[in-house]
This record gives sequence, C-alpha cells and structure tokens, in this order.
Amino acid sequence: MNSIHMSAECYPVAKVGGLADVVGALPKYQNKLGKKTGVVMPFYDNKFTQQNSFRTDHNSQVDLGDTSYDVEVLQLTNNDLGYPLYTVKIPGLLDRENVYGYEDDTERFVAFQKATLNWILQFEKKPEIVHCHDYHVGLIPFMMSKAHKYESLKNIPTILTIHNAQYQGQFSFEKLHYFPAYDLSHSGLLEWDQHINPLAAAVKSSWAVTTVSPSYLIELRSAANGLEWLLDNEKGKSIGILNGIDTDVWNPATDPMISKNFNGRNIVSGKRNNKNYLCDKFKLDPNKPLFAFIGRLVGEKGAELLPDIFKKTLENKSTDASILVLGSGDPAIEEALRSLNTAHKGNYNTFIGYDEQLSHIIYAGADFLVMPSRVEPCGLNQMYSLRYGTIPIVRSIGGLKDTITDIQEENGFGICHEHTTIEDATQAIERACELYHNQTRFKKIRKQIMQIDHSWDSAASNYIELYQKLIEK
Ligand code: ADP
Ligand code: GLC
Repeated sequence: MNSIHMSAECYPVAKVGGLADVVGALPKYQNKLGKKTGVVMPFYDNKFTQQNSFRTDHNSQVDLGDTSYDVEVLQLTNNDLGYPLYTVKIPGLLDRENVYGYEDDTERFVAFQKATLNWILQFEKKPEIVHCHDYHVGLIPFMMSKAHKYESLKNIPTILTIHNAQYQGQFSFEKLHYFPAYDLSHSGLLEWDQHINPLAAAVKSSWAVTTVSPSYLIELRSAANGLEWLLDNEKGKSIGILNGIDTDVWNPATDPMISKNFNGRNIVSGKRNNKNYLCDKFKLDPNKPLFAFIGRLVGEKGAELLPDIFKKTLENKSTDASILVLGSGDPAIEEALRSLNTAHKGNYNTFIGYDEQLSHIIYAGADFLVMPSRVEPCGLNQMYSLRYGTIPIVRSIGGLKDTITDIQEENGFGICHEHTTIEDATQAIERACELYHNQTRFKKIRKQIMQIDHSWDSAASNYIELYQKLIEK
C-alpha cells in the first residue's frame, strides 16, 4: 500500500452515515487509477465481521495509562471491495456491536490510533501518505509528528479530511497519560478551549486539510462549532474536494436491493414499480407525489422541524402529497414523527430505524427527497437521489449548495430554499407539487438528473494530485 485511509467507519463493514460510504468507495477508485491504497479501521463485533473471514496480520499490545490490551490486526480475506481492508481488534475495547456511543469512546479510539501506528512502525516499506477521516483518528497526525516512539514516521505526510466538524471528540487533559511520550512544549497542538481536542489537533498537525465540499470549507470559517478561527487560520493548507458516489453500488440499472431495475429509457415504469412497492408496504396512495426523508434524526439535518413541516404540508389541501420517513436518532424527534401516523393515515408513514435496503428502494421509488439541513458538509443522499431520478428539495448549504441548482435557474433540476425553517421547507414542497402536476417538465427533469455524473473518478484524482504535491514537498 502506498497510502492508507484511517477511519472509524467503512461501508460495508460498519456504517453509521456518509463517512462509511466515502471511506468504502474512495480507495477503490484510487486503486482503479493505479494508486495502491487500503483502509484500516477498528474491528467491531457486528454482522459483517461475523459473516466474513479474516487472517491475522500482526499481534501486539497497546498501553493506555496503566492498562495493557492485546491487539490483533486482521486482514479481510474474502475481499471484493477493490482495496485491502485491515481491522484492529482490541478485545475489551473495540470489539462491540456499535461504532460509537459508549462511555469509553475516548479510550477506544485513542487505543485504536496507537495500535495502528504500532502496526505501521514495523512495516518494511512505510506508506507514502496517511489519510485520516474525522476526529476519531485525529490524534494520528500529532502522534506521527511529535511522539518519540513514532519518530520514524514523522516525514510521512498526513491529511485530515473533515466530514463533520460538529463532532470533535474533546476530552480532559487528565487523560494525557494515554499519550505516547512527547516533548510537552508541543501540548498546545492538542489543546482547544482547555481540552484535548482531537479534531483541532488534526487541523493543526496534519500537512493538509480537506473538507468534503468547497462551500463547506468556506462556511467552516464562520460556523465550525468553536473552531472557526483555527480553520480560518489554517486556510493556506486547506482545500474543498466534493465527494463522489460509488456508482457501482448506487446504480438503479443493477441495484439488487430495489424492486425493479431501471435506466433512463425505462425510468417511468421502473420508478412506478418501486413507488408501488413502497406505497403498498406503507399504505400510501401511489397517485399522489411521494416525498421522502432519509437520515439521522438530529439538529444538523433540521430533523426537529420535520414533524411540523410534514404536518403543515399534510394539512394543506392544495398540496395533496404522500410522505414517507426513514430515520433514527433523537428519541423525541422519532416519537414526534411517529405520532403523525394516526392523524394522517394513508398519506404519511414512518420507519424508525436503520434499513439499508429500504433506503435504496426509497431513492428509487420516491418522487422527491427532502433535505432541510442546517449543516451539510457534503450530503450523499441528494446525489443518490439524483442518480435514481428522485428530485431533491434542499436547503442551500454546504455540499447541497454545490450539487443542486434550483429549477428557476438555467438548466436547474432541484428545488432549493434558503433557510432551515418550517416556512421555507413547506413552500419548497409546494413548489415541488406544482412541478409534479406539470408532468412533462417533471419527467424531463427526472431523466436529466439521472445523467448527472457524480462518480468518484474526478474526486479520486483530486486526492491523488494532493498526495503527489505533499510527497514532493
Ligand atoms: P450523514 O453522514 O451526515 O448522515 P450523508 O448524506 O453523507 O449524511 O450520508 C448518509 C448515509 O446514510 C446515506 O448513505 C443514507 O442513505 C444513509 N442513511 C441515513 N439514515 C439511514 C437509515 N435510517 N437507514 C438507512 N440508511 C440511512
Ligand atoms: C458527514 C457529513 C455529510 C457528508 C458525509 C460524508 O457525515 O455530515 O454531509 O456527506 O460526512 O463525507
């Protein structure tokens, strides 16, 4: 491997959100371009790891304060991912079902990062680039450049890709003893707001910073959950590279998860079949325009406004729409969304939970996808929905702004609104209904959006160019 991606998530091994989709696809496209790259991630005890086979590549130990843990680096053997995949197993810490959400997440990810570097230390041929994704691996650039133990790795360029700056992984300096020894005069690199802040440490210590869309890079300078000044200060080494999508996985013509495959030629019957499947399953009227939401039910996605947005839409006789929600997250939002079921039976339904297959069928069968995000570093849902001929309704922010043009603009194909408010989102849904009733234009746009190319090809080569620049530095 010439370069290595480090991440907490990677599809299909473990997925919570878009981070997994990106880390699961980018290396495949880099390898297609001739750049040997692989992924290293924690070994979780989940369905994927139970159903696949691994071979031990390395055994060692990692210390965390006074406790020592066994470490086993396992390589996936029945691998058709398009790149080598390594998992770091630390029994008692990492081998649990979920990726995040445990009280000792700090310990889990610090141990993962140290164990990963211990493994790389003994490589005969060291990687040319170490590419870190989000805060869970944000201490790697610091440790590689400052810890005595990893001195031999200090000339390897490190990259931080920020998928989401809302999450920074702060913890107290009382846990500084988890760190490998380093000259304490460098502690400022770890610190932000009197805490150890892994995301801030990565921004300071990595050779380059990328964000997952160009607009997000600019927005972070004024809205980065406290890191605005730092991101502005480090703009010289930062660049925004818009994510791609894995067009092998997300292809309506071949997708094994949807109820009928289709392409630009049989889009009408293909989408109709998938819509009928959904309407049948969720007891909705297939003759009405179907609006869907898919995603994490959290404030960043504007999810706490969804119950009111949908209630207002459903009470408005002139819109006459069907709505379907797939999501999980904040229990209060889950409950509020579920509670609309009774009053709007036949026009509204929810599936609270995570269901990969259902998400594919919704992208294929819905008419419109609603994304009123407050923060959207890139957003993959809107790009999947384009590819499946579902028109996105988005708040113009971050990656949504970079990928969706409103139908009022020349060659526009989506519906955009300016603010994450109930009023803006419901008006956007009303505009979508008007479009739906102009079937000629609606069908033309559906066909047009399926052709938009968001494959990884160009983004993968942008990353390779950046790697090359850093290697030659
Ligand atoms: P984020 O990473 O912020 O959640 P993205 O738009 O980048 O947002 O990616 C979200 C990914 O997670 C997409 O692949 C989407 O289809 C998927 N997803 C989100 N919620 C669910 C769910 N409840 N069931 C199935 N897939 C989901
Ligand atoms: C994050 C962001 C999302 C982005 C994804 C992949 O989870 O919230 O907008 O698409 O990472 O980069």
